[in-house]
Amino acid sequence: MLHDTNLGRMTGAPAWLRRHPFVLACLGIVVASASVWAVPAQVRIPIVKDHAKLDPPGAGMFSHWRHEQYQCVACHPTIFPRARKGFTHDDMDEGRFCGACHDGRTAPPASGARANCKTSCHTP
Ligand code: HEC
Ligand code: HEC
Repeated sequence: MLHDTNLGRMTGAPAWLRRHPFVLACLGIVVASASVWAVPAQVRIPIVKDHAKLDPPGAGMFSHWRHEQYQCVACHPTIFPRARKGFTHDDMDEGRFCGACHDGRTAPPASGARANCKTSCHTP
């Protein structure tokens, strides 16, 4: 039985809704699919550290459509939780965030002489 599901507790649904697990399940599906359709084409990575004078002034930009060859689970929630999170080039150089793939082997490097700051990530 679906009665008293974890879903109710997880979503913090009100008691009346918890007594109607079917309604709750439907709502869950609606919310889940809405978040799939709400994928923003481009996401701005928040700046967490002051950029030095010679660094590009703009925050990095991530493009979902440039990565459409991947399933969502390739990145969410392992490499990127579904909330915007800032990170630095040092993090990427340690193989985290974009650096999990942009290490110069799987994908073009995120740091170093071969990285292309302006045409790839630091677009205005
Ligand atoms: C190649 C990696 C990658 C793939 C694949 C990917 N995403 Fe993302 N997604 C990101 C990154 C990076 C961000 C920005 C996260 C951050 O700032 O920490 C993001 C952000 C998001 C956000 C939050 C946007 C906001 O406004 O904060 C949603 C929603 C999202 N992704 C949904 C999806 C869905 C659904 C799929 C599959 C269709 C998907 N993503 C596939 C990397 C990816
Ligand atoms: C799951 C692996 C993965 C992750 C994580 C990932 N990428 Fe990519 N990305 C790729 C691959 C693979 C390509 C295609 C490379 C090619 O075409 O040679 C690509 C292509 C790109 C491109 C276009 C090629 C270029 O260098 O101009 C940009 C820009 C880009 N990624 C930015 C990012 C940013 C910014 C992040 C982190 C917020 C990120 N990617 C995270 C795998 C990934």
